[in-house]
Amino acid sequence: MGRIPEHIVEQIRDTARVEEVIGEFVELKRAGSNLKGFSPFNNERTPSFFVSPAKQIWKDFSSGKGGDVVKFLMEHESMSYPEALRWLARKYNISIPEEEPDAEAEQRRRERESLLLALEFARDWFIEQLYHTEEGKSVGLSYFRERGFLEKTLREFDIGYAPEAFDAFYKAAIAKGFKDDVLEGAGLIIRKNNRIVDRFYGRVIFPIHRLGGNVVGFAGRILDTSKHPAKYINSPETEVYHKSKILYGMHKAKSHIAREDNAYLVEGYTDVLAFYQAGIQNTVASAGTSLTEEQVRLIKRFTPNITLVYDGDPAGLRAAIRGVDIILENDMNVRVVVLPEGEDPDSYAHKVSSEALVHYLEAESRDFIEFAAEILLQDQTDPVRIFEMIRHVVESIAKIPNEIKRELYIRRVAQITGIDEQKLFVELHTALRRKIRSMQGRFRQELPAPKMQVAEPQITLTDRIPVLEREIIKILLLYGHEKALFPYYNVTDEIDGELQIDIREVEQAVWQKIHTEITADEVEFASPVFRELYKKLMDIFLNGEKPDLAAMGKELDTESMEILTDIVFENEKYPLSDWTKRRMRNIDPVENLSRYVTQVLYNLRFELLIKSLDDFHHQQFPEPHKPLEPDKAEAVLEEMMQYNKLKRLIGDILHRVV
Ligand code: UTP
Ligand code: MN
Repeated sequence: MGRIPEHIVEQIRDTARVEEVIGEFVELKRAGSNLKGFSPFNNERTPSFFVSPAKQIWKDFSSGKGGDVVKFLMEHESMSYPEALRWLARKYNISIPEEEPDAEAEQRRRERESLLLALEFARDWFIEQLYHTEEGKSVGLSYFRERGFLEKTLREFDIGYAPEAFDAFYKAAIAKGFKDDVLEGAGLIIRKNNRIVDRFYGRVIFPIHRLGGNVVGFAGRILDTSKHPAKYINSPETEVYHKSKILYGMHKAKSHIAREDNAYLVEGYTDVLAFYQAGIQNTVASAGTSLTEEQVRLIKRFTPNITLVYDGDPAGLRAAIRGVDIILENDMNVRVVVLPEGEDPDSYAHKVSSEALVHYLEAESRDFIEFAAEILLQDQTDPVRIFEMIRHVVESIAKIPNEIKRELYIRRVAQITGIDEQKLFVELHTALRRKIRSMQGRFRQELPAPKMQVAEPQITLTDRIPVLEREIIKILLLYGHEKALFPYYNVTDEIDGELQIDIREVEQAVWQKIHTEITADEVEFASPVFRELYKKLMDIFLNGEKPDLAAMGKELDTESMEILTDIVFENEKYPLSDWTKRRMRNIDPVENLSRYVTQVLYNLRFELLIKSLDDFHHQQFPEPHKPLEPDKAEAVLEEMMQYNKLKRLIGDILHRVV
């Protein structure tokens, strides 16, 4: 299929109504100007899913997701962007004239298509062998039966059997008209000194599916492990099978993962089957590779939560702990369940009842970092070893992108281990430095050093800047075009150290006031995501337009869109915004727009100025006790005085006026 022409994309987006589309999946009821329903992403008792027909967006407070109509289909139906557009085109009877795909791409598409057909044939043939041949029944089926797998489960996963004869599959495929090149390209046969043999023979077969359900590869397990050194043989990488991108069982598990808001990660194919059979359907395994970044991101499309299920062998545990970093780096929450000694997920699922298994998983699941801190320190008495272990844990914590989470974890580890919190912060600081250096400074801003350091043991967990920046975005989005009488302050004199301030009032649009004030200090928003949103919104106003969320949704990334939808619907969800909880007086923005905007603006300017002053100070005095060179000193001091003066002015205004 070729690309969808741009003007058709526009037409589809203009025609589709978010409330009509979502109405097909979720029961919606009127709630003021919005519609309301139960979250389709989580089980819940009170409805926290909102749709705005006026703004053409939706928000799910139980998962934080939100966006436009296309985003809904992508999230809820796991469609890709073009799939979602095509779905909408069908629903609204918009025909898509296909752009001519280029010849080369078309050729590759056809090749992939033929590999998929061969793989589909192989899947069906292996299934046929399992249920309808003597060998399949007596060897394959009875093997699974002995291991406690029901036929229903085997059917769900398309399990099959490859007979002992080493070219039975090849013969069957040739008879069906499949060509050698295609069978080889699909990884189904192997050429060996001018002879062709099946890759899989004398094994039970686990097909490997991609997200949409197509089979892209196979794993074959030998029944008698003494007969062959490799217990499993896996398909090679092919045009359609990229191991690093696929998780075994994902095609079945995805909707359950989204609903349970958690994915269980196990090691083996049989573990996935056994959990599924026991009713724990949100289970996947990384097939024949160690976990990759792409696999983690695949899970993240459905949930931010992963629970690892390990067998209780200590060596395996320590190795696994090191493997978790990739999950932490992707800002996912990791929990761990350790199974009783000697059990793996498959054996344990067959040993106890489903209820007992579910109960065990829930009762025994632990936060990963806490778990690691405990397990690594278990039975350690040698101080050198203990130090090494702590370093491992702190290094894992350093992988977490979120600063606040990192700090909370350091505190928790200090509690668990009894090690002085400040020492752990020093370790964290070192680990972050190492990480920054290894990234060659590219992501410097994304990785601020921890605020809490030994020299200055002060805690700044509740940083006001992001809160205020978000509030500005909210004001622009909701009230940007409203007009109000805004105050401007001017210093006329200074008497006995007290600034004499002249107030002038000007009527203008909210966005103009914000633009003027933010430009005045030549400061930028501190948080990258709010900075970008601010720029985008300001561009819209400066062009004489109004912000339109559905239109903005096309260009914005998921995080920005979630922030915006969150803002639009927040009054539905929280009658009083977070604002009130942050020691500022609650002013009804609608009743007193001018005061509300001014208060937020000046508070933000104040915080940003303090930050600039800090940054400037650090730049000029990288080493605390080294004096400045005399010819530089004057300029630096002058600049700092300017900053200080401005800071005083704003502080003063905040203090007495706002
Ligand atoms: P296990 O040895 O734990 O196998 O390997 P298993 O899946 O539990 O199978 P059973 O219960 O013995 O039948 C775990 C995973 O490692 C990969 C496979 O993905 C397997 O599911 N593996 C293992 C291979 O790819 N090749 C091998 O030879 C062994
Ligand atoms: Mn096993």
